[in-house]
Amino acid sequence: MVAMTVNGKSVSVDADPETPLLYVLRNELELNGAKFGCGLGQCGACTVLVDGKAAISCLLPLAALEGRAITTLEGLGTAEAPGPVQAAFIEEQAAQCGYCIPGMIMRMAGLLAETPEPDDEEIRAALQPNLCRCGTHMRILRAARRAAG
Ligand code: FES
Repeated sequence: MVAMTVNGKSVSVDADPETPLLYVLRNELELNGAKFGCGLGQCGACTVLVDGKAAISCLLPLAALEGRAITTLEGLGTAEAPGPVQAAFIEEQAAQCGYCIPGMIMRMAGLLAETPEPDDEEIRAALQPNLCRCGTHMRILRAARRAAG
């Protein structure tokens, strides 16, 4: 049994300690914001925040999460009341297929928590691990700049 906080709520998860956090979120906790892209740490679609820092959830075993605070896309806002980063991505219509966007938003949320006013170079460096197969990078960058104020 692993006890952690997910989007501000205490949860205890009884699963194989090697289960990746991504599977715990999607299959045990019904939080589908984080996406399965590659399962190999190569695409960033599964990005969440762990103790406020962006993390690749498909590579994080449940056993490493005792006492940690996880934030997922659902923790940043709702469809009716999106958080600031989510709102910026909506306003800039950053999504094409949209599959990568939750990871991009989480990556930006992590950057802004550490660096409230990032410059272009810092935004590009932060988003570098996250892939977009549609090629909407310019819209994603505009959304990221808008989120950064
Ligand atoms: Fe985790 Fe691709 S699904 S990095």
